[in-house]
Amino acid sequence: MINIAIDGPSGAGKSTIAKAVAKELGYIYIDTGAMYRTVGLAAVRRGIDTASDIAGVVSLLPEIEIDIKYVDGVQHVYLNGEDVSSLIRTPEISLAASHVAVIREVREKMVDFQRELAKHHNCIMDGRDIGTNVLTDAKVKIFLTADTKDRAQRRYLELKEKGEEVTFEEVLKDMEFRDKNDSSREYMPLKKADDATLIDTTGNSLEESVELIKGFILERI
Ligand code: DC
Repeated sequence: MINIAIDGPSGAGKSTIAKAVAKELGYIYIDTGAMYRTVGLAAVRRGIDTASDIAGVVSLLPEIEIDIKYVDGVQHVYLNGEDVSSLIRTPEISLAASHVAVIREVREKMVDFQRELAKHHNCIMDGRDIGTNVLTDAKVKIFLTADTKDRAQRRYLELKEKGEEVTFEEVLKDMEFRDKNDSSREYMPLKKADDATLIDTTGNSLEESVELIKGFILERI
């Protein structure tokens, strides 16, 4: 199977780019952030304080069954059979996802699932530790980044479009917290793999970035 890894901080355009390239190649797109978000959602629903109650989150894991299905080429994520694809896209769950992603037991469960999917499908997988840990043998590895303000602006517009009541300052603050939390955690932090290519999309439109990265990947597979 051919696997492509795209890592980088949130809002760099990973998912839009990965989706577009997957469609072009006929590969499946695997959004691993959605899996951490689903664990975050399960914990929040149980009233667990994800910022501090590691034991609470770990004890919940055996009860969490995550599944991924593709409907018209779009990834849907299920928590114990319930389609939670939209419910995981709120600022509250973004934060909870970043909290639970620090926990080793959570990561081990997610990584097993991700590797199993990649074993059976040509795929483009996006996340934070795909090139460094999940798919170390990926055929192409990209580390995608952009200035924090650029990324926050992109996320802000996305949230506004969905009708979320947020300010740019809140989104920026959230993003700075998550960047720090994701990069400084002890176990499998957000990090560029030595053999990944760094691509900085600051100042590019999303369309320009999609074209650039599509070309980059097509040349290599
Ligand atoms: O990509 P995203 O914003 O949907 O990810 C949500 C959170 O999950 C993010 O704060 C980092 C974490 N994450 C991770 O630690 N490892 C991954 N492979 C994917 C996401």
